[in-house]
Amino acid sequence: MSVVKINVLTVPAEMREELERRFANRAGMVESSDGFEWFELLRPVEGTDRYLVYTRWRSEDDFQNWQKGMAFQRGHAQAAADAGRAGGQEQGPGQGQGQGHGHGQGPAASGSEVWSFEVVQSAGPKS
Ligand code: HEM
Repeated sequence: MSVVKINVLTVPAEMREELERRFANRAGMVESSDGFEWFELLRPVEGTDRYLVYTRWRSEDDFQNWQKGMAFQRGHAQAAADAGRAGGQEQGPGQGQGQGHGHGQGPAASGSEVWSFEVVQSAGPKS
C-alpha cells in the first residue's frame, strides 16, 4: 500500500513568491529515490493559506530511507543553511522540524508539520 507524506507549510504572504522560486530551483534528487512515486508543490487558492508539499511513496520504509538519506540532506542543504542563518538556533530539515523553505533570506515558511496517509483507494484517467 502506497503512503502519502505531506509537508504542510505556513508561508507569510510576502514570502509566497520566494518559496515557489526556491522550489523551482530544487535539487531534483527525490525523483531517483527508491520507492518514490510522486511529488507536487500545491499552492493554496481557497479554504487554506498553507502550501502542501505532496509526496507519495511505495511504502513507509521508502519514505523513511529517503528522509534519512543523502538525497534528503542534499535536497535540504540550502534550507538547513537558511534556517541556521535565520535564527542560528533554529533547526533546519533533517535536524528535526525546522522553519520553512529558505535561500539566503532566511526561511520562507514560518511553520511546517507533516501529515501522513495510507492510500486506500486511487484511480487515474481511463486510458
Ligand atoms: C522542516 C522541515 C523542512 C524544511 C525546512 C524543508 C525545506 C525544503 C527546501 C528549501 C527544499 C528545496 C528547495 C531548495 O533546495 O531550497 C525542499 C525540497 C523538498 N522537500 Fe522539504 N523541507 C522540510 C521537510 C520536508 C518533508 C518532511 C518532506 C516530505 C514530506 C519534504 C519534501 C520535500 C521534497 C520532495 C523536496 C524536493 C527535493 C528534491 O528536489 O530532491 N520536505 N524542502
